[in-house]
Amino acid sequence: MRAYQKKYFVDLETIKSLGTYQNDGITMHWANNQIYAYNWHCPHEPECDKLKYGTFSSQNLTVECPGHHFKFSVVSGNNVIEALTKRFGSLETYDYMIEEGKVYIKIHTSD
Ligand code: FES
Repeated sequence: MRAYQKKYFVDLETIKSLGTYQNDGITMHWANNQIYAYNWHCPHEPECDKLKYGTFSSQNLTVECPGHHFKFSVVSGNNVIEALTKRFGSLETYDYMIEEGKVYIKIHTSD
């Protein structure tokens, strides 16, 4: 079992009402009665922040970078074009937990 650190991110009612919440390099979307969280530092250019302003599709569960038009699954973190995942890697996605109305993300620390 992978070890993880539990990190408070946002109140559940806040993410439900805003739809999207960003903090500390992480974007969280509320869609389809669940949460999708990922690190917006793109694997193709980690210093670039354009993915922070990406377009989220709740239907396709993807986010598209407005600068380079790479499109990633917010579920797997993979680029929708498999060859680009192989070349550049995937977005880091996060599992979450909800306790007493607070949303925590799980940051994996080691195996
Ligand atoms: S920063 Fe990587 S696709 Fe835009």
